[in-house]
Amino acid sequence: MKIVSISEDQNLEKRIAITPEIAKKYVSLGFEISLPKNYGYHLGFSDQDYEKLGVNILSDEKEIAQSADIIVQLGLLSDEKLLLLKENQNLVGVLNPYLNKDKIINLTKKKINCFSLELLPRITRAQSMDILSSQANLAGYKAVIESFSHFEKAIPMMMTAAGTVPAAKVLVVGAGVAGLQAIATAKRMGAIVFATDVRMASKEQVESLGGKFLTVEGAENLETAGGYAKEASDDFKKKQEDLLGETLKKIDIVICTALIPGKKAPIILKENMISNMQPGSVIYDLAAVQGGNTAFTEVDKLIEKNGVKIMGEMNILNKLPISASTLYAKNVFNFISNLLDKDSKNIKINLEDEIVDKTLIR
Ligand code: NAI
Repeated sequence: MKIVSISEDQNLEKRIAITPEIAKKYVSLGFEISLPKNYGYHLGFSDQDYEKLGVNILSDEKEIAQSADIIVQLGLLSDEKLLLLKENQNLVGVLNPYLNKDKIINLTKKKINCFSLELLPRITRAQSMDILSSQANLAGYKAVIESFSHFEKAIPMMMTAAGTVPAAKVLVVGAGVAGLQAIATAKRMGAIVFATDVRMASKEQVESLGGKFLTVEGAENLETAGGYAKEASDDFKKKQEDLLGETLKKIDIVICTALIPGKKAPIILKENMISNMQPGSVIYDLAAVQGGNTAFTEVDKLIEKNGVKIMGEMNILNKLPISASTLYAKNVFNFISNLLDKDSKNIKINLEDEIVDKTLIR
């Protein structure tokens, strides 16, 4: 089996799908690997690092794409590069089928198998392939670092001869994978951390990390059978607004992570709530790309409203591309290993396997 990856547009995506560590694993499974020149150069991985492991480094992207049985990427390739793909190939990545519906339909018409990894079921067997978890974990960590760097006061409490600096107060909105990592990171830095979520199961997880859970009193538990959030009712939103409106007056930093799969992110921090916050406070909105959790979020912009800084980025993982690639490449390797037929060492599309069934777009 031949596996390849094509360079992403580095202005948009700095992560890579095959690191040298993972190339070694593919080779040991019997894969032939081809990569373009300078594939990992920007992350400190030279062509020689790959060649030493038996990877073919080629200069012609068309030759690379057309020789492949499996193409592993981060996002969906550009229109121009998609034209290089041909029948019976397998494309694996975070293909964003909600946004790229027409392009993916065209690929499936060309008999290209499109596996989109954000559709993986959240089952125990798929944990080692779970790109949403591995990347959200890093994003949650980095959102805290970014927001703290824009905050002009110290984070931990400091008692000095010149007086006491109080600990910063952090609110995490949405305590899923990114939110829980944000709580853990902010706690480690000495902040006092509060968190809220629509899923009641997250209360215990927040508390186990030393966070204080803010419960929307009298509200129903908005969790689907798959463990995701349901869209909140107007009644819930009103109660949540009252609760957070009061809390935000004394919060220094907010990390927003609230998402509803396949939908626009809910706007939780409304204009009036932000205008009641203290000047100098910082909001980092990890939901920015999905529309944002605040009334003011704009992707890749630092907005200032009444002295409150609000920020969110297209791809925060571009600020941690080495760690993010290390985990992503391993997730993808585990996914592909699961697709392989143990005897023939060929890809086997077994739709009885929930992992294959859920990720293969038809
Ligand atoms: P996500 O990225 O879809 O959403 C982030 C968080 O925002 C969620 O906790 C969600 O409940 C919360 N949220 C949505 N609307 C909200 C609102 N209006 N107000 C406050 N919070 C709101 O979720 P993520 O991080 O992908 O996790 C989803 C679930 O999957 C969690 O239950 C997690 O524990 C579970 N999971 C299970 C895994 C497994 O293998 N068993 C692996 C990873 C996650």
